[in-house]
Amino acid sequence: MSDSSTSGELVTSLRALLAGLAPGDRLPSSRELIQRYRVGPGTVSRAIATLAAEGAVVTRPGSGTFVAPRVARSQDDAPDTSWQAVALAGRDFDPAHAVEASHPLPEGGITMAGGYLHETLQPTRALGAALARAARRPDAWHRAPTAGLAPLRAIFARQAGSTVSPEDVLVTGGGQGALSMLFRAIAAPGSPILMESPTYAGALAAARAAGLRPVPVPMDEDGIRPELLADAFAMTGARLLYCQPTFHNPTGTVLAPVRRGQIIDVARAAGAFLIEDDFARHLGHGRPVPPALVTDDRHGTVVHLTSLTKPASPSLRIGAVIARGPVMRRLMGMRYVDDFFIARPLQEAAVELVSTPAWERHLQALSTALRERCAVLAEALAREVPGWTLTRVPAGGLHLWVQLPPGCHDSAMADAARAHGVAVNSGSRYFPAEPTDAYLRLGFAAAASTAELAEGARCLGTAARAVGCGTG
Ligand SMILES: Cc1ncc(COP(=O)(O)O)c(C=O)c1O
Repeated sequence: MSDSSTSGELVTSLRALLAGLAPGDRLPSSRELIQRYRVGPGTVSRAIATLAAEGAVVTRPGSGTFVAPRVARSQDDAPDTSWQAVALAGRDFDPAHAVEASHPLPEGGITMAGGYLHETLQPTRALGAALARAARRPDAWHRAPTAGLAPLRAIFARQAGSTVSPEDVLVTGGGQGALSMLFRAIAAPGSPILMESPTYAGALAAARAAGLRPVPVPMDEDGIRPELLADAFAMTGARLLYCQPTFHNPTGTVLAPVRRGQIIDVARAAGAFLIEDDFARHLGHGRPVPPALVTDDRHGTVVHLTSLTKPASPSLRIGAVIARGPVMRRLMGMRYVDDFFIARPLQEAAVELVSTPAWERHLQALSTALRERCAVLAEALAREVPGWTLTRVPAGGLHLWVQLPPGCHDSAMADAARAHGVAVNSGSRYFPAEPTDAYLRLGFAAAASTAELAEGARCLGTAARAVGCGTG
């Protein structure tokens, strides 16, 4: 059992204990708790710290831990925040675009929603060791340079390719914040942004929050279509394209080699920036991953974005933007205005993590695990819901993109899936404009195991039949 789950269990037990005590009562001593619950002293102090942070107990050094006074909040005490609706009306922002309505999954539910690795796929031990080594550095808590630590910039430059230099790299706090910064830096509110259709829902949310107008550009099995991209630039006058050439989220598509130069040329002819979201560089399923598009660029057209959260852990919020020319100076300025720099201990930990042989071993094991999970889910779906169309078995990434039979609604199907214990993402939120058809995005990385994925597919089959979505 992991340490955090032991301390979580102790918190639950202590909450039950507190329910039977009165405010001001003293809790058993740490020694008694250690004996009674058969846990270590560290677990007890972590559990007490959690309860103290919640305000359930107060600790008095030298005298012990006591049940905190209970603060009763009556209906009359509830703050009246209705004035905020008026005050905020001047700033257009629809949180519904950003947050997918999420109802809690029933106990024991299976998740195929979201886009991060299950904890058993994360390099938890290597992350812990890297953070510990980083914390021991004497300068760990010093201020970091605005652009990021030099060794980390060098690592991201090497990863992107031989034409990229460390001076082109700006370290960011993961990919999402970087996207938001890029959209704000490059395009004025009200202006168009071209996006593949479908595209990453978080990018759509960030674009809308920056006041941009997403304009869809159709894709086919080879990625974004260059001739329609040229039309979209001509029609809208857009100066910005957001795309994911490698293992596109949600479809898993890889941009065809012949199109790589074409889309850079089209963007360059339009005098536009092309943001390459390379979130899945380390999520290939075994075959060589195509080089980053930024390595084909000679004129500062491509602004590249990558992140360590996907192959490591959602909380390793370290990523990088690669850009050349005045846009980089502007991004540095925005970094300074937004938050000065990215927390140094996390940057140090990232350097420690990716510089060890354990990182390469982790990436190889991850690649094998993702390939296996992807195949298991694809096979299970073909068996359990033969009426659904799997658009492709991707060679990388974390998701399958499935088309539902005619007449099915994605959100009704997603609701039915949840009622049968499986969380999935409905497809319409990935479209910049009207969805072309009904789709679901099914993740194979967040579930606990391949067995859970097979069971999830079985539940999806039952749910699909219940709402008449099982057959074509
Ligand atoms: C395509 C894509 N880009 C960027 C991100 C942002 O990831 P993070 O902020 O965790 O680095 C995600 C996360 O789901 C994603 O799917």
